[in-house]
Amino acid sequence: MHRRIFAPGVLAAASLLLAIPASAASHTPGAPGIGDPYYPYYGNGGYDVSHYDLRLQYQPATDTLAGTATIQARTTQDLSRFDLDFLLDVSEVRVNGAKAAFTTSGQHELEITPKNPLAKGTPITVVVRYSGVPSTKSAYGFTTWHRTPDGGVAADEPEAAWWWFPSNDHPSDKATYDVSVAVPDGTQALSNGTLQSTTSRLGWTRYNWRENKPQATYLATLAVGKFDITTSTSDGGVPVVNAYSEALGDNDGAARASVERTGELVDWLSGYFGPYPFSSAGGYVPNTTTGYALETQTRVYYSPRQFANGSNTSLVVHELAHQWYGDSVSLKGWKDIWLNEGFARYAQWLWSEHEGEGAAQELADYVYASHPADDAFWTVKPGDPGPDHQFDAAVYDRGAVAIQALRNEVGEDAFFAILKGWPKEHAYGNASVADFQKYAEQVSGKPLGALFDTWLFQPSKPSAPAARTASVAQSPTAAPVRPKSWKKIEATNDAHAH
Ligand code: ARG
Ligand code: ZN
Repeated sequence: MHRRIFAPGVLAAASLLLAIPASAASHTPGAPGIGDPYYPYYGNGGYDVSHYDLRLQYQPATDTLAGTATIQARTTQDLSRFDLDFLLDVSEVRVNGAKAAFTTSGQHELEITPKNPLAKGTPITVVVRYSGVPSTKSAYGFTTWHRTPDGGVAADEPEAAWWWFPSNDHPSDKATYDVSVAVPDGTQALSNGTLQSTTSRLGWTRYNWRENKPQATYLATLAVGKFDITTSTSDGGVPVVNAYSEALGDNDGAARASVERTGELVDWLSGYFGPYPFSSAGGYVPNTTTGYALETQTRVYYSPRQFANGSNTSLVVHELAHQWYGDSVSLKGWKDIWLNEGFARYAQWLWSEHEGEGAAQELADYVYASHPADDAFWTVKPGDPGPDHQFDAAVYDRGAVAIQALRNEVGEDAFFAILKGWPKEHAYGNASVADFQKYAEQVSGKPLGALFDTWLFQPSKPSAPAARTASVAQSPTAAPVRPKSWKKIEATNDAHAH
């Protein structure tokens, strides 16, 4: 339906045009990208999603995923057609109940033309029926779907959704999720949030998961395989659901000795960041061969390899810190990645301090001293690193030094007020680095432009360290002392390849 308003003077003229079909010229296609300069085709224009309802079936033997996605959205412009981001094979699309035409374009666009054009500001329900073998699909020459001997896993950043559900794939369009997945009896299906129920029928078990807080698309996860699932409740009252592949072998003990600390660490982080934002917490360790972890909302993805050298609570702290910094408060654009990684890294520094393995200041001094001025490390601007450097060590380490510099500048009281206030200020929303600077200035009452510019936006080594420790102050050129926690902290970003 149209909502077109004619000025009285043109009513007569307009009536002459009534013979023209309803697909009026003011309805235009939604853009194939949401407008993120790092990734021009990620996300889409013209609508805003509020809920994804995924009803799927996965067969590990053939790596076949099939089902229906029901997407509840609202149009933000008069639309003649719109895109979703998706790679699997689509058999039918309906918009508001009516069959819609669809085709594919670009690397991962599903172009949908509804029977009737859609007016701006109206709710729409999009149903997509699909099936496919995710491991055979790629875009830009890569796949992020991890097939395992007993299942498959979707967990990557910034792209993971294309391999398992159609979406508006950008963190600025968050939504709630119902994820229901049927798998052969004896196999488990994991996703975000709370397990609502399981049902068994004709050799298949269906797992019904629900995430009731807004979630970015890259933070939605699916894992199928043979898992041992543990449940508990933290002292602070947060329900914890963890899962371990039955095929972890030698890594099983160290994985459990780390991830089973989740409840305790969530409570510990609450002391710095405020109440845990979600109704469930936990992590899972599938039998993948990758080397990274990902802060998938409420259910963190860990690679078994990260526990090959023993347990790593620092890694768990990093991923849990993201639940506040990244998951509840999400990026406005991918250039804002420092708001995720700088703070998750800084949480590891606080944990190091707590464990007596090196104070945050000592870690900051070490980062500063261990990279000479001509090290390419300093050419990466954590505040705008570019798409090829989003997960470089500089975003994490220099990013955390920037936070230590802020701490030194505003003092302990203001600093910890900012650390705890920010996740509350933007809970379940989106924010940018500029928003953070404004907030820190407001809380501390200090202008911080020069500090942010020095530590986040200059492609060179700052001339003075963010340092206050006696050792650095006395002899700035002395060999840097490596804090005890360093190795486990660095193990967080081990492998960055897809
Ligand atoms: N956010 C993740 C972490 O630091 C990094 C993921 C990097 N992406 C990748 N494909 N390795 O915990
Ligand atoms: Zn991280």
